[in-house]
Amino acid sequence: MTAPKITPRLGVNIDHVATLRQARGELYPSVVDAARICLEQGADQITIHLREDRRHIQDTDVESVGLVTKKFEKPLNLEMGCSDGIIEIALAVVPDWICLVPENRQERTTEGGLNIKNEATYQRVLAVCQRFKKILPTTRISLFVESDQDTLDRITSLAPSIDAVEIHTGHFARDFISGNDLRDHLKQYKTAHEHIKRLGLSYHAGHGLTGESVVPLLEAKIFEEYNIGHWIIAEAVFKGLGAVVRDLNNLIKQYS
Ligand code: PXP
Repeated sequence: MTAPKITPRLGVNIDHVATLRQARGELYPSVVDAARICLEQGADQITIHLREDRRHIQDTDVESVGLVTKKFEKPLNLEMGCSDGIIEIALAVVPDWICLVPENRQERTTEGGLNIKNEATYQRVLAVCQRFKKILPTTRISLFVESDQDTLDRITSLAPSIDAVEIHTGHFARDFISGNDLRDHLKQYKTAHEHIKRLGLSYHAGHGLTGESVVPLLEAKIFEEYNIGHWIIAEAVFKGLGAVVRDLNNLIKQYS
């Protein structure tokens, strides 16, 4: 049986446009312009992470970037931790997608997937997903997780309350940059893919990916969506945001 054809989607995470703005407390660069340029150049979705410490994206950004995605009729993916204050904002904003992530104030960036093997975390994530499903029936929910078997087993019981998982690709991306063997990662991602598909969920990837490290994942043809941020904004320093997004999107679409 041949696998169904998937056209991978590119979600551009524009958090680091806001990082640059917040570093000087200025009103530029504009996240609204960044979102518009990414969507004009073919991005399938805009991703933003409203962190508890508001180190980059601010509450007003969520609203203003949401207006841009609406105008382009493209999804807004709100990454967020499970804290009460952020949940209230998500309930008011009604994003197209919510991606639940772990959040720790000391970390430089999200350092791994949700530890749903921990009972307390599992119960909290389940309760938050059920609440969103009840109050925001049109919003789809994704969980940012690792791809090990124990985590996948926990996903099985969460599946009725979610729509997708996003696999944390940070370790894969680091190994790619270090020139290490990637076969174990790819094997695990493929095994996880079969499990996730049996549950009827979408299969996304994100964290640490670059225009080069995404290629072996594209070749594996298993992920439906890639959320990429830091590398795009870093590369934009040299090539311009529009050109980076256009070229990356063209690359991704070659693997339809
Ligand atoms: N996906 C998730 C769930 C994330 O937390 C992040 C980082 O905010 C990304 C994707 C994008 O990661 P990067 O900026 O390393 O490309």
